[in-house]
Amino acid sequence: MMLSINGWLNLFQPIQLQLPLLYPSLASYHHESRQNHSVTESGMFSQSDDDLNSRGFEIHMSRDDINLDKLNSLFVMVGFPRREKGKLLRALEHTVSLLWIHEKKSGSIIGFARATGDSIFNAIIWDVVVDPSYQGLGLGKVMMERLIADLVKRGISNIALYAEPNVVGFYQPLGFISDPDGIRAMAYSRRRR
Ligand SMILES: CC(C)(COP(=O)(O)OP(=O)(O)OC[C@H]1O[C@@H](n2cnc3c(N)ncnc32)[C@H](O)[C@@H]1OP(=O)(O)O)[C@@H](O)C(=O)NCCC(=O)NCCS
Repeated sequence: MMLSINGWLNLFQPIQLQLPLLYPSLASYHHESRQNHSVTESGMFSQSDDDLNSRGFEIHMSRDDINLDKLNSLFVMVGFPRREKGKLLRALEHTVSLLWIHEKKSGSIIGFARATGDSIFNAIIWDVVVDPSYQGLGLGKVMMERLIADLVKRGISNIALYAEPNVVGFYQPLGFISDPDGIRAMAYSRRRR
């Protein structure tokens, strides 16, 4: 199903309110391509929760019990800024859907992803991170599949994210396309005023 121009324009409303830190280009999730991927509403994922559990990984989709110091440590590991805890908590409270992976042996948070939005039409995915020691094991994909499935289950049809050039190839097989219908992301920047 193609989205109307009004649907795409809705994508840009939150951009005026937030200055992305590192994200130069917009990618948007296309429902058309979903059937070709493991992301489905029926919950068929590339790795099941049981498989992940047997490898020592627990998936959590609630902000309850998340340790903000450990989350900040994960951000710092991948070069994201450490965030002031009160602000980070507030950001999580205003997050529509989130997911984190707990590594049982170490007790660390080794993966995180979240989406903000209006809970009905639009969502933007942020902060997709996997601890470098655990990258390449399919965990980024595991998180994205579940995050997208949760958003789709909530009826949210516009799902977008900002991808750095070196991760565009990670998002594309998950159903994201760059510059949908030629529409470009624009980020408000105080520095250039
Ligand atoms: C991007 C990131 C989340 C990927 O997580 P990951 O757990 O290493 O990725 P996965 O192992 O789940 O990879 C899934 C697939 O994507 C591919 N892939 C992973 N990273 C990729 C990249 N940067 N470019 C292209 N393809 C990539 C994998 O080869 C794999 O392909 P396959 O399914 O054909 O085997 C992780 O590298 C990361 O945290 N990077 C630092 C933070 C960051 O840049 N986040 C994105 C902000 S926009």
